[in-house]
Amino acid sequence: MRAPSGYLLAARYRLLEPVGRGGMGTVWRAHDELLNRDVAVKEVRLPTVLDEELRAELCARTEREGRATAMVAHPSVITVFDVVTEDDRPWIVMELLQAKSLEQLIQEHGPLHPRRAAEIGRQILGALRAVHAKGILHRDVKPSNVLVTEDRAVLTDFGLAALEGDVSITQAGIVLGSAGYIAPERVLGSKASPAGDLWSLGATLYTAVEGRGLSGRRTAAAALAALTSGEPIPMTKAGPLAPVLDALLRIDPATRLDSVRASLMLTRVAAGGSAEEPLTPRKSGRPVSVITAPAFARRPAHRGLHRAEATAAALAVPEPRQGSHRKRVEPRPAPSAYARFKATVIKLCLPRRFWPRELRKRG
Ligand SMILES: Nc1ncnc2c1ncn2[C@@H]1O[C@H](COP(=O)(O)OP(=O)(O)OP(=O)(O)O)[C@@H](O)[C@H]1O
Ligand SMILES: [Mg+2]
Repeated sequence: MRAPSGYLLAARYRLLEPVGRGGMGTVWRAHDELLNRDVAVKEVRLPTVLDEELRAELCARTEREGRATAMVAHPSVITVFDVVTEDDRPWIVMELLQAKSLEQLIQEHGPLHPRRAAEIGRQILGALRAVHAKGILHRDVKPSNVLVTEDRAVLTDFGLAALEGDVSITQAGIVLGSAGYIAPERVLGSKASPAGDLWSLGATLYTAVEGRGLSGRRTAAAALAALTSGEPIPMTKAGPLAPVLDALLRIDPATRLDSVRASLMLTRVAAGGSAEEPLTPRKSGRPVSVITAPAFARRPAHRGLHRAEATAAALAVPEPRQGSHRKRVEPRPAPSAYARFKATVIKLCLPRRFWPRELRKRG
């Protein structure tokens, strides 16, 4: 049962009003009475069929994942303040964002411009790379878990799909991940992996630009059947994002785009270039504000080149050399008639120690 408005969680967080509802529970705007600030509280609803032991196990796992996520400080990773187990269920206390989910944005405004989707993708990929580096997987990247504020895109709901591989939990009917966003290898029974999160990011960005889910299928199995049919993935609005989506949505995780190249390609598209080609200086200009260019994305201009490309460019084409590392000695031009006259006068009138150095050297 949902907690009533005004409920005081952990003798500290006063639930004020729901800001959103999802498959796993309700997100509340709440007030942290200790620190006197507003926070978001996710009230996780567990299926009633779960027995005591499983319930306790789920709460413990949510706490573990919450603690792990709290270790990652990244502008695109939701900040978790606290995880509480109360009333036999987990509650996640996190930063309250003035945001709409990517799912809401698509519903309200239709498909996103590929550049804007690329900028959101670039930031969310940054979040994934930061958590993967700490050994944490997200497992449920999808449009409703991407929150878009004025100036940043934030990945939320870490760890709620941490039930991976638990037979008893699967039998209890909890849906792991979301149809159409789970990587094909996971549908086929493999374990979650960083590559799986990248596939889900590809599917999320596909929905963002195309305005509909991958293959429009409602179940993961149906989406997988469409993907394995050998037909190319239909894309009509992805534009410059198409090669990135194509490479992220490879069925075989071994041939899937890796996060470093994906990041480079998304950066190029977000800056108005093509995914494959570095930007030419003429095309560059300032990167267009895509979700109002965030402060952390604003870096000194690279003159249209991504840093890696600038380095590559610097490394790639060395200046033709003359076969010597020494500074070239330019032949000295012959002195003019006036200079020769001046030198003669100085030599005649002054003792040698007062001659200019140039003259002393020449003798
Ligand atoms: N930290 C937050 N700050 C502000 N709003 C939030 C926050 N977290 C979530 N929301 C809002 O709450 C809504 C519901 O989130 P929730 O995660 O419960 O649902 P969901 O992602 O649709 O489903 P699921 O249960 O599968 O995660 C989001 O779409 C978003 O609008
Ligand atoms: Mg969610």
